[in-house]
Amino acid sequence: MGRQRLEIVPIMPLTWTHAPRPARMDPAGNSTARRSDYSTVEQSNERARPPAAGRMSRSGGLDLHFRDVVCRHGRLEAVAGVDLSVGAGERIALTGTNGSGKTTLLRAVLGLHRQVDGQILVGGRGSRTAAEWAWRRRACAWIPQRPAAGRFPLLARELLASSGAPAAAGEAAGRLGVGELADRPLSSLSGGQLQRMHLARAVGCVAAGAGVLLADEPTAALDFEGQEEAAEVLTSLPVTVVVVTHDRAMAARCDRTLEMAAGRLREVR
Ligand SMILES: Nc1ncnc2c1ncn2[C@@H]1O[C@H](COP(=O)(O)OP(=O)(O)OP(=O)(O)O)[C@@H](O)[C@H]1O
Ligand SMILES: [Mg+2]
Repeated sequence: MGRQRLEIVPIMPLTWTHAPRPARMDPAGNSTARRSDYSTVEQSNERARPPAAGRMSRSGGLDLHFRDVVCRHGRLEAVAGVDLSVGAGERIALTGTNGSGKTTLLRAVLGLHRQVDGQILVGGRGSRTAAEWAWRRRACAWIPQRPAAGRFPLLARELLASSGAPAAAGEAAGRLGVGELADRPLSSLSGGQLQRMHLARAVGCVAAGAGVLLADEPTAALDFEGQEEAAEVLTSLPVTVVVVTHDRAMAARCDRTLEMAAGRLREVR
């Protein structure tokens, strides 16, 4: 899952104000309230707090470094030695053929994929300890490729609140045309509405202090107008953005386009 330029207040580490405790969610926005109900729940997400002491640039955003990253699914090497540096505040479009490893690479950043060799640094920080993983998940907003609606009636409002900045997420939902659906169960939303809701949640995560946005085909389910809005919103956020997309308009708004093929990455623009 895009949006017009929003009034985002970039919350830097020392400017956090306490928000009501949101529902417990994993980085994909799935409630972990009944973990056994979800096949997609892989990590729990703590209450969103600003990422502390990362290398946040003045303009907002954390840098991102991949060093010889290899990701496997069993014997399959889905990502084969990726080296990439993304500057703070830079916007990267990641394209490539189906099955080339894009989703796996992004999930590895969040710890949702664990069969990983090499090094991934966000804001100069690794992920050896549980505390570092907790920080990583707060530092990175995430829009999944296939947002799960969940198996019990989680409300859209709860998804938005899990961002850690319910007001900002709610405002974004309004701007994205799904504000009035906040009291609906996620399972009752259409694919495009659900994607918009996840987009709004990501805006909330950024308002809550995330310095990186990882978005996996965030406009795939959107109508043409929605795609435009989504591209505008995503690329105007004051953070580092890595967006997997097959949408040329989205790619054109980014600073660089990278292409993945058979697990390898090359720069195309
Ligand atoms: N859970 C899994 N178990 C086994 N293999 C997997 C799993 N998830 C992905 N793969 C395989 O890993 C490779 C990379 O998949 P990935 O989802 O990262 O590709 P992608 O570039 O995001 O593709 P798409 O454009 O279709 O979304 C594919 O060959 C895929 O079949
Ligand atoms: Mg994918």
